[in-house]
Amino acid sequence: MTPILTMRGVNRFFGTFHVTQDIDLDLAPGEALGVIGPNGAGKSTLFNLIAGTLPPSSGTVAFRGRDVTRLPASERCHLGVGRSFQIPHPFTGMTVYENLLAASVFGRSGHDVPEEACRDILEMTGLLKNANRPAGSLTLLERKRLELARALATGPQLLLLDEIAGGLTEAECQELVATISAVRDSGVSIIWIEHVVHALLAIVSRLIVIDFGKIVAQGEPRAVMADPLVREIYMGIPADEDAA
Ligand SMILES: Nc1ncnc2c1ncn2[C@@H]1O[C@H](COP(=O)(O)OP(=O)(O)OP(=O)(O)O)[C@@H](O)[C@H]1O
Ligand SMILES: [Mg+2]
Repeated sequence: MTPILTMRGVNRFFGTFHVTQDIDLDLAPGEALGVIGPNGAGKSTLFNLIAGTLPPSSGTVAFRGRDVTRLPASERCHLGVGRSFQIPHPFTGMTVYENLLAASVFGRSGHDVPEEACRDILEMTGLLKNANRPAGSLTLLERKRLELARALATGPQLLLLDEIAGGLTEAECQELVATISAVRDSGVSIIWIEHVVHALLAIVSRLIVIDFGKIVAQGEPRAVMADPLVREIYMGIPADEDAA
């Protein structure tokens, strides 16, 4: 089966700073992949390279078998790449519902009548009661929900989620996991960057670890988390202490 996403030899420099290093990655249709790594490791940059917010310095990105390396983010969104941003930036002067409508019309190139889909997404993300509030009046947590809702409204086949669980209570986190699991079960492929590891492990079937811009470990999530190298990089637990 053709992977929904293929990255080959992807590098990204900022000046002389080599942030993304030789990334090779395949994602199967319907797969849910988790991404972890220390702050500044290059996780959000990886999303920018997949979504087209940034072009790579070298290497290729293919989506559904088509080379999209030079396509801008807007065209990748039309093709089915939806994303949330780590720092939410909704249209603050528009209502929550209008934000979704805008995302929906944009993502689907205006082909569908999106009202009903938007209502379903508002319900699914727990935002229905806030539908007519200006997005600028939302709390940070509500803005994070809106980030997820806006990404869903674009009608993605690949959904990129960048740290949407941080700061949630345990009950809110469980609700979010239920929502993302419903999205996954509907056949949407997911890549989720998240520091809240137990939420991630409830969703993903594969985990990659990024450190200094490189994939340094990957595989079955619990095996990856138990890897002494990963514990050292990610949790600061020295490998020799692990063995003690
Ligand atoms: N546009 C840019 N120009 C210059 N440097 C950048 C740019 N974007 C990111 N960087 C740098 O690249 C490195 C990786 O940043 P990135 O945001 O991808 O990390 P991250 O893994 O998402 O971190 P966090 O867990 O804190 O969100 C950081 O050192 C960051 O300062
Ligand atoms: Mg980040």
